[in-house]
Amino acid sequence: MYNQKVLEAFAHPQNVGEIENPDGEGTVGNATCGDIMKITLRIVDEKIVDAKFQTFGCAAAIATSSTATQMVIGMTVDEALKLTNARVVEELEGLPPQKIHCSVLAEEAIKKAIEDYRAKQQNKTIDKSKIEYV
Ligand code: FES
Repeated sequence: MYNQKVLEAFAHPQNVGEIENPDGEGTVGNATCGDIMKITLRIVDEKIVDAKFQTFGCAAAIATSSTATQMVIGMTVDEALKLTNARVVEELEGLPPQKIHCSVLAEEAIKKAIEDYRAKQQNKTIDKSKIEYV
């Protein structure tokens, strides 16, 4: 069912776990199967320096999340926002058609984590301006 690259990524997943006090975090559920994915990011000067994932997903979700987190480390947040599940599947040299929906979890969780990061940045700016104003 799975190719060798997917099996490797599933058997030896990278970046499993959770970053403490992350700069951005995103948890999403898969509407198709009900599985869950959480991604945490460490971001320094708009660049993703670390990414970790935890999932209640299947082998395809684990393989695609491992690959997606590896791909976004070193990217700017703007670059990471452009990462699609199709690009991750391509990196893994394909998934069975019935497993494509599993690859959406990582893409969505990364986007949500970046949204969370942006919201936190916004709050910092607002807090700072308040302090300067008073
Ligand atoms: Fe749910 Fe793969 S079956 S993530």
